[in-house]
Parts: sequence; structure tokens; C-alpha cells
Amino acid sequence: MTVNRYSSQFIDKNDLKKVKEVLNSDYLTQGPYNEKFEKQLSKATNSKYSLTFNSATSALHTACISLGLKPEDRVWVTVNSFVASSNCALYCGAKIDFVDIDLKTFNISVDSLKIKLKIAEKKKKLPKILIIVHIGGNPCDLYEIKLLSKKYNFKIIEDASHALGATYKKSKIGNCKYSDISVFSFHPVKMITTGEGGSLHTNDLKSYNIAKIFKSHGIDKNVKSNITKRIEKWYFEQKILGFNYRMSEINAALGVSQLEKLNKFKKKRNDIANYYIKNLKNNPFINTQFVNKNSTSSYHLFIILINKNSNKKNYEIMNFLDKKKIGTQLHYLPIHLHPFYKKIGYKKNDYPNAELYSKKALSLPLHYKMNNEDVRYVIKNINKYFGI
Ligand SMILES: Cc1ncc(COP(=O)(O)O)c(C=O)c1O
Repeated sequence: MTVNRYSSQFIDKNDLKKVKEVLNSDYLTQGPYNEKFEKQLSKATNSKYSLTFNSATSALHTACISLGLKPEDRVWVTVNSFVASSNCALYCGAKIDFVDIDLKTFNISVDSLKIKLKIAEKKKKLPKILIIVHIGGNPCDLYEIKLLSKKYNFKIIEDASHALGATYKKSKIGNCKYSDISVFSFHPVKMITTGEGGSLHTNDLKSYNIAKIFKSHGIDKNVKSNITKRIEKWYFEQKILGFNYRMSEINAALGVSQLEKLNKFKKKRNDIANYYIKNLKNNPFINTQFVNKNSTSSYHLFIILINKNSNKKNYEIMNFLDKKKIGTQLHYLPIHLHPFYKKIGYKKNDYPNAELYSKKALSLPLHYKMNNEDVRYVIKNINKYFGI
């Protein structure tokens, strides 16, 4: 049985071969595999510039820096996400605020965003950056959000950690057609894995140039030596205060090999999701995530929401399923309810949709190693829980 965890990586012989090849090579970091992975990521996402990172968290921090985020600037974030989506703005000393979610798509509510922007305009407290998340791989309404960004003059970062392989209006998530920067995560539960890792994508040369040096101590190698006045192999200068956010060659080689399997991974995940949808349709107590007709989800997650027909809470069914060796997870406790964020001043009832969702939502097992029998076992036990 492979459903005791809600997600899991899939590693094959090619992955092992590529990693071994790097271990036997001259470069364990800053070598050809990072370059190759970046090129292939640009191809896979249709973005002009791609950079590898040691996590999506470091890529998100870099994205904020690249867009010129300064202390005291405002950043708004969808409230239903992993904490890294908003921590990145706090690393820059920015002020953050959240936007509630839509209970059909589980993504940022565009209606709530519109209302909040109108109020913020009057108070002269508009955000510099909006960070959105394609929850579970389900694309947000990017066109509408982009229109708002033009009207109110803010930048957009897509935290696309869940959404490698997803499409919106026939274009690939990550191509930054409707945003300034997109970020992916390659944590083992995600669409592809590098162990730990992430990437940043943009079509803007200026943002790319800042991100490229920020991820490597703020060091620029593409400068003339102050001694010989020529570009020299051995010469570099630190231009800004950066970090070491680089991905090792070992991780990048795994990424190259995993990316070759992305279409296969997406297809299998979509097949399993469609099987869940078809077979859970007749269960009157749960809703599945609504994916707009103009989008395809990567289905990093398969999220269900216990609806008004049942007063059960998600933890009750999660504990029941756990006894059946079925692993589930909540994605997520709304960010403002974490103790750290409560200390900043956020309170219960600030974001009612996300709070209701956090009591009613759960992610079911969904990953490449599952077969039809596994999916049927999960469905059977969910229905059993509701007495169906
Ligand atoms: C939406 C979202 N953003 C950011 C992250 C951080 O990713 P990483 O673990 O690669 O830093 C995650 C990881 O779980 C995530 O789900």
C-alpha cells in the first residue's frame, strides 16, 4: 500500500545515474548541471530567464529583493499558504497583510482583493507586491489579478511551488505572462524533486540580474578587473549584500532527470484526480476543488472540503483515515493563525473563509506510485466514514 503518506517522490534508474555521474565529476557545485537545469526549466515554463535555488523559500526572498522591496513597503499574500509565502516579505522588513480565499477554488478571492484594494487606495496604503499561490496546482485567475495590478500599480509574484506543469489559458504556469516573477519548489512532495530546491523565473532582465547575484553572496563575476581592466576568469566583486542560495550540482542533476518525467507525472496525477472526482461525486458531504475550464491543474494536491451537509471536522476524518493507514494533510493552517503571526497582531476571524477551510479541508493521497487499487481503497474508506 502506498497511501500511508499524502505524497511521495518517485526516483528511477536515470535519476540515480545522473546523480552518480555528478559525484564522479569535477564539479559538485556551480557546474554544467545548474546551467542545463536552468535552460530546461526555461523551456518547460516558457519563461525568458530561469535561476536555480536551494529552495523555493530562498527563491521567494530573492524575488522580493529583485522587485526592489524595501523595509516598510507593503506586501499582500493569500492567507491560505505555507508560511514561506509571507516570510519572504518579512525577511526584507516589509509590512505584510493577507487576502482571504475563495471557497470553491481555494485560491485567493479576487472579490476580496478588489474590495481590499479600494479601501487601501483611499487610505493610501496600497501594496507594492501581491504574492499569490496556485493551491494544489490549481491556477489562480491570473488575468483578473493582472488587470488589478495595472489599475493599482502593484507587482505580482506567483508562488507556483505547487504548480509546475499547470496551464492557464493555454499558457504554462511560470511563463510570467501575468506576473513579474514565478517561483517553483522541488521539495520531495512537489511535482518534481531535487531533494531540496527551487527556481525563479522572470522575463525581466533587470530582475534576473539582481536575482542572479543576490543568490550568490551579491557577487558579480561579469565585471572587468580593477587591476587589468579586463574580464578575468579569477576576478569577482561583491555588489550587494546577498546570500548563498545556490543549488548544488547533485541536486541540479536530479532536477534535470526529474524534469524529463514532468509530463508523465502530471498525466498520472491528473488521472488519479479524475478518478477521485468521478467516484466521490455521489458523496453528498464533500466538495472537490473547482478547476476553471480555462486551466489545467498540475494536481500536486487532491483537496476535498467537507461541505454544509456534514458538521464533521477535517481532523475527525483524518484520524479515522490514519487508522486505516491512509495519510492525509491540511494545506494549510491559515498563515495569520500561526503563533508567530498572532504576535504580529493578526486575530481569529480576520479571514473567515480560510478559517472555515482549515476546519473542513484535507488533502488525500496523490502521487506517482499509487495505482487504481490504492485510489479505490481511499475512496471506499471516505465513503465508509460518512456511512455511504
Ligand atoms: C506554497 C509554498 N510556498 C513555498 C514553499 C517553500 O518551499 P521550499 O520547501 O522549497 O522552500 C512551499 C513548500 O512546502 C509551499 O508549499
